[in-house]
Amino acid sequence: MSQPLRILMVASEMVPFAKTGGLADVIGALPKALRTAGHDVCVVMPRYGWIAPERFDLQTVVPTLAVPIEDGYDHAMVQATMVADVPVWFVAHDTYFNRDGMSMYDDDDRRFVFFCRAALELTKALDWKPDVIHCHDWHTAIIPNWLRTVLHDDPWFAQTASLLTIHNLAFQGVFGHRVLEIAGVPHGDFEVTEGTAPNDTVTLLGRGIYYADIINTVSPSYAREILDPDAGHGLDALLRRRRDRLYGVLNGIDGEVYTPSSDRYLATPYSPADLSGKATCKTALQAMLGLLVDATIPVVSVISRLTTLKGFDLLDEIIEPFLRTHALQLVVMGTGQQRYHDRLIELQARFPGQVAFRLTFDEALAHHIYAGADMFVMPSRVEPCGMSQMIAMRYGTVPIVHATGGLRDTVRDYQPRTNDGTGFVFVTPTALALAQALERALQLYADQARWLQLMLRGMASDFTWQAAAVHYTDLYQRAMAAHSADYERNA
Ligand code: GLC
Repeated sequence: MSQPLRILMVASEMVPFAKTGGLADVIGALPKALRTAGHDVCVVMPRYGWIAPERFDLQTVVPTLAVPIEDGYDHAMVQATMVADVPVWFVAHDTYFNRDGMSMYDDDDRRFVFFCRAALELTKALDWKPDVIHCHDWHTAIIPNWLRTVLHDDPWFAQTASLLTIHNLAFQGVFGHRVLEIAGVPHGDFEVTEGTAPNDTVTLLGRGIYYADIINTVSPSYAREILDPDAGHGLDALLRRRRDRLYGVLNGIDGEVYTPSSDRYLATPYSPADLSGKATCKTALQAMLGLLVDATIPVVSVISRLTTLKGFDLLDEIIEPFLRTHALQLVVMGTGQQRYHDRLIELQARFPGQVAFRLTFDEALAHHIYAGADMFVMPSRVEPCGMSQMIAMRYGTVPIVHATGGLRDTVRDYQPRTNDGTGFVFVTPTALALAQALERALQLYADQARWLQLMLRGMASDFTWQAAAVHYTDLYQRAMAAHSADYERNA
């Protein structure tokens, strides 16, 4: 193994403490894999209102941490706990973080600038000097900006490189110029003026992209797609300028959580060597959701935010004719746009025993669906990585996906001639293309011998965090090399 590194992972959310999306899963799993690879990794995140010290055994490690903000100082308390063997530090500040939500507040600029600065000051207070600060999304993107400007001459950070991971370019942290005053960053040093960002705003993610030593997204395809104006959200010109520093690293899935043979939620575990349990999981799911219990009817599933961005309109457009003309059942779990809620409630009423909709996100039910369904539909218009398709494959549930971002990189389209592939992939995000993919899937389902081979190929796909940890180690080293080269140049 290469030289062990000290890595500070800074993020706004982490499983099991706080989750709005896949970012939380990544922060829950990647540090563990990096520890296993021998690195010294710590995570720092805000202590939101519901993260009760008793419940998570939080210990106060720094009672009062002075945090420079705007022209003065404010104070945080820092608490810590362990998740497996990963230390997690929490920045506590009642006014900023003791709230019901994580973000979408009017003072998010101040809240996250404060959090980020506290994360940096904390390393000094604990005398733990990181080789790399690994930042995630806009919430933490001010850090590379500081390291290259106001903290450039701080000897503590002289050797500290930065890596910025973009989980979704659509969320950029766009604020008024005030945010620069709060952060104590000079106004004129850099403006993201190209693209769609209005001129009088500051795009924190853009600043991170501009200043980070290395940048990555969560799949190779997405890293290419965002160089294009169509997917660049106004930052494509900047990304093209920095393309020699931009990489794509696929996320993994957590094998401890998602393995059908050891899944504690399942009544009947199963494995590629013995798939009989999957049929039992299927009839159990049908019974649980009030569907007609019949193992021969294909169950088509969706676990997703129910939004147009996730391509839910495409499914909405085609599903009714399919329900009328094909023996299939539809299972949907998730929340999102009201029109899709209304529509699914209506479909469930009109197709009793055939459609089940659960307007919620429930971890246990998610496991039952991954295990009990036959197909998993993910028509996302944009999907930087996506994890559900990988989980579905691991459970022998065949994905039907739009060829974008991480979906393109993880699912191989079924090839009848060579009998190869791991799912069904459609290239244009149209209702017709989705309908054709679903039709192909249903046809193959009728050929149970071939279907079984398709399932087994998916189950054999290897999406581990160990592989991602190897890639990230390479990026940390690149970031450190880039950092020292730039540092010497500017010395
Ligand atoms: C974001 C992306 C998703 C990705 C996740 C974790 O939520 O939309 O595609 O899987 O981040 O990186």
